[in-house]
Parts: sequence; C-alpha cells; structure tokens
Amino acid sequence: MHRPSVAAVLLAASSTLAAPTLDKRADIKCPIVFDGRIPASWATTPSNFDTYATNTIYNPDYVKGNDLKWSTILKFPNVTASRFDGDNVPVEVTISDQSIFQQQKGFRRAGLQFLKDAADGPGQTDVKTLHFSVKQDPARPLNLTHEYLNVWHETADYSADQIMFQTGQLIGKSASDKSNFKILDRNGQSLYSVAMDKNAWQNFAIKLDYTKNQVQIYYSAGDAALKSVAGPTSATLSGGGQFQMGILKKPTGTSDVVNSGYQESNLNEGQIYGGIFLEDSADGCVSL
Ligand SMILES: *[C@@H]1O[C@H](CO)[C@@H](O)[C@H](O)[C@H]1NC(C)=O
Ligand SMILES: *[C@@H]1O[C@H](CO)[C@@H](O)[C@H](O)[C@H]1NC(C)=O
Repeated sequence: MHRPSVAAVLLAASSTLAAPTLDKRADIKCPIVFDGRIPASWATTPSNFDTYATNTIYNPDYVKGNDLKWSTILKFPNVTASRFDGDNVPVEVTISDQSIFQQQKGFRRAGLQFLKDAADGPGQTDVKTLHFSVKQDPARPLNLTHEYLNVWHETADYSADQIMFQTGQLIGKSASDKSNFKILDRNGQSLYSVAMDKNAWQNFAIKLDYTKNQVQIYYSAGDAALKSVAGPTSATLSGGGQFQMGILKKPTGTSDVVNSGYQESNLNEGQIYGGIFLEDSADGCVSL
C-alpha cells in the first residue's frame, strides 16, 4: 500500500494552511436581483424553458434560431456544479447550423436573457454585479479561429454593448490571445483577459456601477473564492438595455458579420454555464 512520505504530509499540511481561499462552493451573500440558476428538476423537464407559462427564469422566445426551442438548445452535462450553483445544475448553451436568429445569416447564436430584465429595469441602475461561471465541453469545443461574444450587456437601442465577455480571435485583431477569455468595454478596450481553462470552472463577476460609470472584474478558477482582478475602471455604462448569456459566434471573411461570411457546416459547439445571477452591490456587497 502506498504511504505518503513525511515530507509530502508536511507539504500538504502547509499548503492547506497557505490556501485559505480554497473554499468549496459558496453562498450568495448579497440580495439577488435576477436568479438565472437552474433547478435540478428542470434538467429532466427542459420543456420548462419553452413557454412563458413555465419559464420563470429566462425569456422563452429570445435569442435563438428561429426554428429551435430552448429545450433542444440547452443540455445538462454531468459535471459538478459551479461555485455559486448551490443545489442548482449547470446548463450548456449549444449552437448548430440552425442557430440563425431572424435574418442574421452571418451569426450562429443562442443567448439567454433574464425573464424580468428590461431596458429601464433594475438591471440598469445603481450598482449591480453579474456573476457567471463557464466550463468547456470537450465534446463540443469552440473554434477559436472565430470571434465569440458569450456574455454581454447591450444598450436598449442595440447600438452598442456596454460590456462584452468574449473569446476566440477577435476580428481584425491578433490571433495571439485567441485562447483567452477577454472582457472588453463598449469601445473594445480590454478590461481583463485570462486563458481559457479546458478543464476547470472559471468564475467571473462583473460589477457595474451605473452611477459612477465604473467596472470592476472579479475572477477565480475552480472552487476558489473570487478576487478583484481589474478596476474599478471608468467605462460608459449609459444606454440601458439587457444582459445576454450564451454564444454568439461571428463568421470569418466578411465586413458584414451580421449577414454574411463563413461558418463551417455541421456545427456542434457548446459553452457550459453555472451560477448565473445578478446581485445588488449598492452597499458594496459582492459575493466572493
Ligand atoms: C455522472 O458523473 C459521475 C462522476 O463522474 C458518475 O459517478 C455518474 O455515474 C454520472 N451520472 C450519469 C447519469 O452519467
Ligand atoms: C475553424 O474555423 C475555421 C474558419 O472558419 C475553419 O477553416 C476550420 O475548419 C474550423 N475548424 C474546425 C475544427 O472546425
């Protein structure tokens, strides 16, 4: 039988002491404005996502392929829950060749919107923090030669995104950081960037101070507590609008990304999400 050496035991003991942030799972400490976490029972009744009568979490009609239902877009992979999931389950947003919204033939997209998020609602006032965790599905990898917009807040008039969480090679930019997640402001200025982890959960929180026009980013990997990694940074947050969480894959080889360009066929890509919620940080509270 294998016995650890004394040195290994001492090393393990000291690294335990040295790592107080390794805090498995965590409670949400602040008032929840929108809870996007998925009850475990919904994984076996995904039709809950398809109608206003049953979907109490997200908008059943948007933003997705015209002929698709959320019950077929969303998957429930057998992965451990993320840091803030509690008893809830992770959900995977997938895209396929059918993920064409309205006439936007350049994009392949599927994006969840909080059911109660409105252009002039509480998601756009005071100080709010959007939390989400992401995990990669080896069976449905993203193609990082393309630009992806996965989480964002879009203005009410659809003219800009105040904040963007992206990956892949950004169109017109260097490929050198294509394997990074990037958080950008509405002008495309980088606020934070971190390598995509192909195995572990990656936990993000974006604090939006609509009163001061400032953004602060928090991050951790795995089960570790979040830490502030960027900001507060000045960023123009005016314009109201809505959050969206999912995948928007842009085409290559076009200047008109909405309507044209190249997308390979037989797409089968996904992004796993956990612990999606918006919390009230008016008094400085951020769940870590
Ligand atoms: C889910 O994963 C766990 C751990 O890998 C495994 O024990 C369990 O059988 C899996 N459940 C299903 C339904 O595949
Ligand atoms: C990734 O995208 C590029 C550009 O569209 C394409 O040429 C390539 O075949 C894709 N790779 C995979 C593995 O699908």
